[in-house]
Parts: sequence; C-alpha cells; structure tokens
Amino acid sequence: MSKTLSIIVGSVLGASEYVAEALEQVAIQAGYQTQVHFSPEFNHIDKSGRWLICTSTHGAGELPENIQPFANEIAKNDLSGINAYIVGLGDSSYDTFCFGAKNMEKRLKDAGATIIAEPLHIDVLNHPIPEDVAVSWFEEQLNS
Ligand SMILES: Cc1cc2nc3c(=O)[nH]c(=O)nc-3n(C[C@H](O)[C@H](O)[C@H](O)COP(=O)(O)O)c2cc1C
Repeated sequence: MSKTLSIIVGSVLGASEYVAEALEQVAIQAGYQTQVHFSPEFNHIDKSGRWLICTSTHGAGELPENIQPFANEIAKNDLSGINAYIVGLGDSSYDTFCFGAKNMEKRLKDAGATIIAEPLHIDVLNHPIPEDVAVSWFEEQLNS
C-alpha cells in the first residue's frame, strides 16, 4: 500500500512554506507520495493518508489567513481516521508563542484526529533557519 502525506501550510511571510518544502523532501526520501497545499481547501485534501500541518502564528496569536478556512472546516467534520503531525513556527518574544499551531492541534483533536507525535514548535528567534530543526525532527519521526 502506498504511503501518502498531505502537507497543509499556513503562512504569511513564506517561512512556513520553506519548511513545508523541506519536509516534503524528507517524506519523499522516506517513500511517501506527497502533496503540498499552500492554499488548503478541506475538500481537496486526501483523507486516507497522513497529514502534516505546518503553520506560523500572526496577529495576536492567530492563524495565517490562508489556513483559516481549512481550520474552520475541521470542526464540521469527523476526523477520527486522520493521523497528523504538527509543526509550528513562532517567535518566543510573543506571549502567544505558536498559538496558531496549538489552535490547530486542539481543533484536530476535538474533531477526533490523532496527533502522531508531540508537536514541534520552532522558535524562529533561536532558529533563524527553521528548516534545519524541522528536517531533523521529521527524519526522526519517519524513521522511528
Ligand atoms: C505581525 C506579526 C505577528 C506575529 N505574531 C506572533 C504570535 O502571536 N505568536 C508567535 O509565536 N509568533 C508570532 N509572529 C512570528 C511569526 O510566526 C514568525 O515570524 C514566523 O516565522 C512567520 O512564518 P511565516 O513566514 O510562514 O508566516 C508574528 C510575526 C509577525 C510579523
């Protein structure tokens, strides 16, 4: 059976997009068929494979606009068959550090999804190249 990974991106300035692209390469190396959704639409996302949510936080702890419609759809659906990884990008100088990723985690869990591993919250203050830490983490996840 082929392994599939849908990568769902929430980004304003592009950093999460770079991370998503780097993680896609990790998944391909691990034998996954991948699809990256930069403008995620709930109905277009494969419900049979794994998901990887990769999102930043903007405003006062809010999700990027491009992922908000997708996030709102989650509550209207039963996601009990879904297994998801979560990678958040944020800046620890905000007291709403990575609230976007935390918000997605809660929504997914409330809809019945399983979060496969402890989510990764990347502090861009300490990790100016967030791809590096994300790639190491994801390699560990997919090879463990
Ligand atoms: C206007 C603005 C508001 C932000 N608000 C938050 C926040 O509330 N919490 C947080 O953890 N990071 C916050 N950040 C930091 C971003 O999440 C971080 O820079 C991230 O790398 C941006 O990723 P993106 O380019 O994919 O949007 C904010 C950044 C900006 C520019």
